[in-house]
Amino acid sequence: MHEQNRRSWNAVTSVHNRHKNDQSGFLAGGGSTLFPDELELLGDLSGRRLVHLQCNCGQDTLSLSRLAGRVVGVDISDDAIAFARQLSRDSGLSAEFVRSDLFDWFDETEERFDVAFSSYGTIGWLCDLNRWAGGVAEVLVPGGQLVLLEFHPLAWSLQRDGLTGDSYFLRDPIHEKSGVNDYVGEALAPSGYQQGNQDWQNPETAYSFQWTVGDIVTSVARAGLVVETLREYEYANGCEIFDGMKLIEGRRYTVPDSMASVPLMLGLRARLP
Ligand SMILES: C[S@@+](CC[C@H](N)C(=O)[O-])C[C@H]1O[C@@H](n2cnc3c(N)ncnc32)[C@H](O)[C@@H]1O
Repeated sequence: MHEQNRRSWNAVTSVHNRHKNDQSGFLAGGGSTLFPDELELLGDLSGRRLVHLQCNCGQDTLSLSRLAGRVVGVDISDDAIAFARQLSRDSGLSAEFVRSDLFDWFDETEERFDVAFSSYGTIGWLCDLNRWAGGVAEVLVPGGQLVLLEFHPLAWSLQRDGLTGDSYFLRDPIHEKSGVNDYVGEALAPSGYQQGNQDWQNPETAYSFQWTVGDIVTSVARAGLVVETLREYEYANGCEIFDGMKLIEGRRYTVPDSMASVPLMLGLRARLP
């Protein structure tokens, strides 16, 4: 399933980037793709060794490279990592990029980090959350921290007409027949939005997994990490999770006025004793 996801992410990478104008110029000129929420959870990064898990095309990784001592990005997609390396060269911002399934990388790397960071649409592509949390604990130094900022698992149950999306408690993998989609809109293109491809269909299917708040916190605790912060947010950064959401300031979406406010993102910081 991870290998099929690799194919699906490879297929969509250039389609996502075609919507984003002059990314290297934006980054080279001091621009950052990060939101205040992850920066707040991450705290002071100066001099720290940070690994960005599932870094995709490296925009956030390179933005982080300005703040941290050393930054490594890991992602399964060949095309995303090739794009990230080129963006690093073009922007003059330096980070190391590794193409690997996360679980293989956990087994293989000997490097240790002060911070493991993962954000916005990551854990839902992983088939085993205990393996993920265990791997994170393995690559952290004692006192090192995991920072996860994710879309809230309840968000996938929501649609314009209420709780009619996926069941919150889905246990089986979800076979996404239309693969990883072209979800990039203006709120995900701080360097400027371009029309790019319209009505593009991914030829490669994908598999995703529903992890509840209980799954996330339990996996982290089982791995020996101590939860310091668990926060819920009434907005989703950058992503219109379902049609009809309301775009608010700061490239964020909330539920439309007709719906009750529910958590749309979850932020977790946990520390290895
Ligand atoms: C929504 S993107 C994450 C976006 C990222 N936060 C950023 O900075 O742009 C999800 C990423 O997870 C990666 N991915 C999916 N399964 C993976 C796996 N098993 N190992 C490593 N990366 C994986 C995909 O290739 C994709 O780049």
